[in-house]
Amino acid sequence: MEQKRIIQQLHEATAFIRKQYNHEPSVGIVLGSGIGNLVKEISVEKEIEYKDIPHFPVSTVSGHEGKLIFGILRKRRVVVMSGRFHYYEGYTAQQVVFPIRVLKFLGIKTLLISNAAGGMNPSFRVGDLMIIRDHIGLFTVNPLIGPNDDKIGPRFPDMSEPYNRDLIQKAKLIANRSGIPVKEGIYAGVTGPTFETRSEYKLLHIVGGDAVGMSTVQEVIAAVHMGLDVFAMSIITDIGIREEDNIITHEEVLREAKNAEPKLTAIFKDLIDEL
Ligand code: HPA
Repeated sequence: MEQKRIIQQLHEATAFIRKQYNHEPSVGIVLGSGIGNLVKEISVEKEIEYKDIPHFPVSTVSGHEGKLIFGILRKRRVVVMSGRFHYYEGYTAQQVVFPIRVLKFLGIKTLLISNAAGGMNPSFRVGDLMIIRDHIGLFTVNPLIGPNDDKIGPRFPDMSEPYNRDLIQKAKLIANRSGIPVKEGIYAGVTGPTFETRSEYKLLHIVGGDAVGMSTVQEVIAAVHMGLDVFAMSIITDIGIREEDNIITHEEVLREAKNAEPKLTAIFKDLIDEL
């Protein structure tokens, strides 16, 4: 019953969008907090607000807009999620990933994800970019909990390489060529909405996290479940493990994400070119 409902909802959302925009995007892009400028580079064909799409959750956090933007970027048809859904907003993990599933149903093969994250690797600085090589998702809620629908993906998906090696390699070459320094590391996903205590930052670093954030992991799990190629990059907006002066605010996160955004946007654009 529940299975049928989700797939039915996906078909209804997809049909609604297709009626208004009858092209197949090949790349989906999720833009995180304070990271919106990539949209300016797109030759926009259609925008659809989340609130109009059947079964879509609606974003509530300030700094997060809610619409799908369809268009052409570097000769490729893309769809951008301008604004994403977070577990801490009160949605279920399944609701959080609903739009990602819709993007797959619309035809995307590749998903590019961005986010703001707190740095825990001592070599990281505010404003750094980190290519996500792997994640730790055990501190958040798995969106695949519940009945599985084999039409969406397998019951027990492999997670040995959630982030596509080729895309990571390409992004590193692009960054190098463009003179943009990038780090690479492990993203620890948490539910939020609290930023971490000093002891929590320390714990997440000890278990292998280089950065921590409140998004991405659930989206990536849903994407890998459906067989999408995933690439994700964090902007390090704060350093959690500092002993002093580590009061972290949402404003600071947004500001630092905005400052570092042009570097991330440049890499995303070239990566789309070279897919
Ligand atoms: N912790 C969790 N999420 C975040 C952080 C952080 O320090 N910075 C940006 N998103």
